[in-house]
Amino acid sequence: MAEHEGKVAVVTGAGSGIGAETALHLAREGARVCAADLDPATAAATAARIATGGGEAMSFGLDVADAGANRELAEAVIERFGALHLAFLNAGVGRLNSVLDGDTEVWDRVVAINLSGVYYGMVALAPRIVAAGGGAMVATSSIAGWIGQAGMASYFATKHGVIGLVKSAASELARHGVRVNAVCPGLVKTPILGLAHDSADELLGQQYALGRVGRPNEIAEVVSFLLGERSAFVTGAAWLVDGGHVGSPGGPGSEESEAGARAMLASFSSNTKAFDRRGGPQ
Ligand SMILES: NC(=O)c1ccc[n+]([C@@H]2O[C@H](COP(=O)([O-])OP(=O)(O)OC[C@H]3O[C@@H](n4cnc5c(N)ncnc54)[C@H](O)[C@@H]3O)[C@@H](O)[C@H]2O)c1
Repeated sequence: MAEHEGKVAVVTGAGSGIGAETALHLAREGARVCAADLDPATAAATAARIATGGGEAMSFGLDVADAGANRELAEAVIERFGALHLAFLNAGVGRLNSVLDGDTEVWDRVVAINLSGVYYGMVALAPRIVAAGGGAMVATSSIAGWIGQAGMASYFATKHGVIGLVKSAASELARHGVRVNAVCPGLVKTPILGLAHDSADELLGQQYALGRVGRPNEIAEVVSFLLGERSAFVTGAAWLVDGGHVGSPGGPGSEESEAGARAMLASFSSNTKAFDRRGGPQ
């Protein structure tokens, strides 16, 4: 049986990139999918691609930053499919914004979409998932939820916030049979990268241990896993899917970097002596 057979899933930001790929993936795994996006035409296009592939889908025009619109989404899904089990709260935007530029308009809108949007989605959808007897939610954070970077204050703050929200929601909803996790992609080749999209591997991939940026289907695989029964003991987790960017920074290992490590170690002579000591009276 397909992994999500009999389940109903909502995906936000489903008109493009990671959301579109994940909506298609969940449908291939048997879920009936509501593809929601700020741009109703792209949401409808994703739903149409699911239908062409033999799946069942609806689409919904949604601004995640509007709490009432999230409630309408929940009602529309129940009206169409009768229940809801899975949610991928993925819509997000990235904007340049720093402390010194003091652009509070950018800050407010990024927070409204990337953080309040996830909370509003949970508020509207979690009770429906509880009513269906349980299920799972995944929210899209980022490597930006693990580290900091100059010039992206609001984006990085919201992606940290998503992880905190996910941990709190996981704790609250566990007894209701709902698991909640965050997926934390590194750079992924989607339109959000703007002009860098086409040459992302060459321009940006060298910051990654695996030497390239990610692909939307590589994130969809992990989201599908986190939404499914195979991850039954996983909740409150922030899953890095980042080609080693956070855990193994510095790009692909090279002979030069290993030679550098050996040179550094040689300079720790007292440390090395301590390591070689075998204990006992000295
Ligand atoms: N691509 C990356 O490198 C990368 C890395 C880490 C995290 N992410 C995160 O992944 C998520 C998806 O990004 P993507 O790369 O697929 O980008 P994308 O631009 O391809 O897709 C984002 C989708 O979200 C929709 N959207 C934007 N604002 C919305 C709103 N207010 N309400 C509803 N929908 C809205 C857009 O219309 C678009 O279809 C985002 O949360 C992003 O922050 C992306």
